[in-house]
Amino acid sequence: MKIWILGGKGMLASVCAKICAQRNLQFIVDDRSLADITDYNRLLQRARWIQPTHVINCAAYTHVDRAEKNPELAFLVNATGASFVAKVAKLVGAHLMHISTDYVFSGDQQTPYCEEDTPCPINVYGASKLEGENLVLDIHPNACILRTSWVFGAGGKSFISSLLSLLQNQEEIHVVQDQWGCLTYCYDLASVILNLIQEKGIYHFVNRGVCSRFDVAKKLFEELQDRIFCKKIIPTSAIKYVNMAKRPRFNVLGTQKISKKLNNSPRHWKKALGEFFIDAITV
Ligand SMILES: NC(=O)c1ccc[n+]([C@@H]2O[C@H](COP(=O)([O-])OP(=O)(O)OC[C@H]3O[C@@H](n4cnc5c(N)ncnc54)[C@H](OP(=O)(O)O)[C@@H]3O)[C@@H](O)[C@H]2O)c1
Repeated sequence: MKIWILGGKGMLASVCAKICAQRNLQFIVDDRSLADITDYNRLLQRARWIQPTHVINCAAYTHVDRAEKNPELAFLVNATGASFVAKVAKLVGAHLMHISTDYVFSGDQQTPYCEEDTPCPINVYGASKLEGENLVLDIHPNACILRTSWVFGAGGKSFISSLLSLLQNQEEIHVVQDQWGCLTYCYDLASVILNLIQEKGIYHFVNRGVCSRFDVAKKLFEELQDRIFCKKIIPTSAIKYVNMAKRPRFNVLGTQKISKKLNNSPRHWKKALGEFFIDAITV
C-alpha cells in the first residue's frame, strides 16, 4: 500500500500524514506546490512517478465566505480539481478517498442527514463541493466520499480556533445559538479515513452530539475560564450576523452507516474537545 495525500499543508492532510507515520504506512504527502489539483498534466505526471495505490484528496478551496465573491475559483478547485484527481487516480489504478462537507445539504431538515438524503446546497462552497462529489463518482465509481463538518484540530484554522482567539481578546462575545451542527475532531476524522481506506460509496463522519456554536463557546469558556480574558458569552441569533455566505440552520450528519461499518460509534464532541486541549498543551 502506498498512500498519496493531497492538500498537504491543510489541517486534515497534516493529521492524515501523522497517523500514517504512526501506523507505519507508506505515504507521500504533497502540498499545492508539488501537486496542484487544478493542473491536470503535472498532477498526472506526479501520480505516474509516485504510483500510489490509494489517494486521499484533502485539497480544497475551503473559504466559505470568499467563495461567494469568487465562485470560479471555488468551482475550479472543488469541482474541476476534484475531477482531475479522480481521473488521475483511475488512470494509475489507485483507490480514491475524497473528502466532502455537510454544506452539500440545505440544513432545512429537522432530523440528521443520512447518506441517501438529497443534497441541496445554499452557498457557493457547498455547490462547488457537491459538483466535485458528482464528478468524482462519475469518473471513479469505486471512490469513497467522506462528508464531515466543523472540523477542528491543532494548527488548523477552524470555528474553534476563531472562538479561542475571541475568548482570549474580547471581554464579551456574541455567539450564534440558533444554528446547529456537529463538531469533528481532526484526529478522529483522519483515523476513520485510514480505517475506511478500502471502502467505496458515500459516508458521513462527525463526532457524536448536536451542538450550536453557542454550546461550543460555553464549553470552551467553562474549560478555560481562568486562562482567558472573556468574562461573558451572549447568545445571539444568526439573523444578526451578516456573512457573505448563507449558513445552514440544522446541518447534522447522521453516522449510523459508518458506525455499523466500523462497528464503533464516534465519541462525543466534548470528549474529543478535551483530548484536543491535552494535545494542544503537550505539543
Ligand atoms: N475544516 C472544516 O470545517 C471542514 C468541514 C467540512 C469539510 N471539510 C473538507 O475537509 C477537507 C480538508 O479540509 P481542511 O479543513 O484540512 O482545509 P484546509 O486546512 O483549508 O486545507 C485545504 C488545503 O487544500 C489546499 N489547496 C487549495 N487549492 C489547492 C490546489 N489547487 N491544489 C492543491 N491543494 C490545494 C490548500 O492549500 P493553500 O493553503 O495553498 O490554499 C490547503 O492546504 C476539504 O475537502 C474540506 O472541504 C472541512
